[in-house]
Amino acid sequence: LPTRAATAVRHLSDDIAYVLFPEQQIHARVQQLGRQLAHDYADRAPLVLGVLTGAFQVCGDLVRSMDPCPRGTTVNFVRASSYGSGTESSGKVAIKMDMDSKLIKGRHVVLVEDIVDTGMTLTRLKAHLTENCEAASVAIVALLDKRERRKVELEADYVGFQCPNEFVVGYGLDFDEEYRTLPYIGVLKPECYAHKL
Ligand code: XMP
Ligand code: MG
Repeated sequence: LPTRAATAVRHLSDDIAYVLFPEQQIHARVQQLGRQLAHDYADRAPLVLGVLTGAFQVCGDLVRSMDPCPRGTTVNFVRASSYGSGTESSGKVAIKMDMDSKLIKGRHVVLVEDIVDTGMTLTRLKAHLTENCEAASVAIVALLDKRERRKVELEADYVGFQCPNEFVVGYGLDFDEEYRTLPYIGVLKPECYAHKL
């Protein structure tokens, strides 16, 4: 039989220099956060609002862990894209709601984001939900917090893990739209992004 090793097929996982947060660790932490949210929002019928695209993984796992789930809990998504070059966010954030903004009025919103970096995206989103959409409250869940990189004062209410100042991918996080599918969070090998930046 021909050996497959001879044909050098490269997979996404081959581009990872090292794993920062393994799958089990992420799941255990997200489960804790979900239970905490279920408790804190027990009588507030929260609207869980995932920030696309990066938060699609954490959002799914988080709502599954909201146990016992408060009556009236709903889930929706918002798209926030910051115009920037390379891996830097410019502060100009375009917001696109996937639901009728009028339905947010009076709701307790739980914004779910993959990572807080400079803090600009969430600052803009929070202001939009509070001022334009008249949400009753807005709390932030961030799976990762890169505090070192903050440019505006922004504290997430629920944080999964503090993240070192490295560009990370996996579990929703991408580089050039790839790697979102990996079940863990890791750091890319430099040769995998150097030619694209
Ligand atoms: P700000 O700077 O507005 O940006 O807090 C948050 C957004 O920037 C992206 N981001 C990353 N994406 N690996 C990624 O895949 C990273 O290390 C990283 N750091 C920031 C991310 O889209 C987040 O929503
Ligand atoms: Mg994002």
